[in-house]
Amino acid sequence: MSSFPKRVFSGVQPTGNLHLGNYLGAIRKFVALQKESDCIYCVVDLHAITQSIDVWGGAEGLMRSTREVTAAFIASGIDPKKHIVFNQSRVPQHAELAWIFNCVARMGWLNRMTQFKEKAGKDRENASVGLFAYPTLMAADILVYRGTHVPVGDDQKQHLELARDIAQKFNNDFSDRIAKLGLGVEMAVGDTTVNGYFPLTEPVIEGEATRVMSLRDGLKKMSKSDPSDLSRINLTDDADTIARKIRKAKTDIEPLPSEAKGLEARPEADNLVGIYAALADMSRDAVVSEFAGKQFSVFKPALADLAVEKLAPIAGEMRRLMADPGHIDAILKDGGERAGAIAEKTMADVRDILGMLR
Ligand code: TYM
Repeated sequence: MSSFPKRVFSGVQPTGNLHLGNYLGAIRKFVALQKESDCIYCVVDLHAITQSIDVWGGAEGLMRSTREVTAAFIASGIDPKKHIVFNQSRVPQHAELAWIFNCVARMGWLNRMTQFKEKAGKDRENASVGLFAYPTLMAADILVYRGTHVPVGDDQKQHLELARDIAQKFNNDFSDRIAKLGLGVEMAVGDTTVNGYFPLTEPVIEGEATRVMSLRDGLKKMSKSDPSDLSRINLTDDADTIARKIRKAKTDIEPLPSEAKGLEARPEADNLVGIYAALADMSRDAVVSEFAGKQFSVFKPALADLAVEKLAPIAGEMRRLMADPGHIDAILKDGGERAGAIAEKTMADVRDILGMLR
């Protein structure tokens, strides 16, 4: 058990449309964790610019998407007064710690990252250096707050393992200095207890929708970058659009099974049942036992009704918030100031640990 105080951190990129995968895999969990912990939720604009400018849309696109992700956080139920909501670039300590982590992480570690391979595609020579170093900035995001728990979707698991590797190497490389300055915190690693400055962060990847798949292809992840808008439900879709996308979602011809095991070789059916389960806060088993033997002509309208019931109020509230960008900017400013105070304290320690004279 780590003796670091529990602190939740997570981030979402402002790169266009937020979708149901972002909501069920991440944002909904952000909301739930507020009850038990101090939470810091970040709109990661420095990560957005690692991709081509066409993806993040230039300055206008970035400002709009940053406000939209903030609006989605708040419309979903995140409380920016009790917790912290801000955009990453407001706190330059993220980038400062990322540089130090670039010097801790090894090329070999980053070469293994599957998300870089996917995003860079065939033309790796033309990918930005920032896209390659993306995971070290992500580690810095979390560790500049000494975050202990990170709610994310399944696709971020490898990045969080890297954040643990970076923390561990930093703790080892500088253990003498950390001890000399009295900055170590005791934590259990395996069977032994070590002193470290950074916690080994735990991923929080749980529930029925850790990997929401495309509505057009049950083997592909639902994503912002899929050229087909029918592949995803956007958080800003209206009720008719949500119903139409679910009606058109790819399925097989079998009726629903009576046990979740029966979904195993049926990726599209499994995905729709998983979405229903997550939205209704039920298990997959409970959903299939309710719809056992029913055709998709029965299940899809029920899913559409449920999705509209849960998502339409969020879309409405997001529209209301987006109509007042000044209010959103004030939230980000206030959050940035409070985040910055915590981050600066960490960076002051880190500069001392490394021997950077001030
Ligand atoms: P991003 O912006 O791609 O996605 C935001 C969150 O949504 C989750 N997610 C999904 N979950 C389930 N099914 C899907 N189809 C799906 N698509 C996306 C992601 O797992 C993520 O939790 N690298 C991060 C942003 C980040 C971050 C951090 C996260 C930057 N720094 C520090 C945690 C801690 C990302 O690209 O998320």
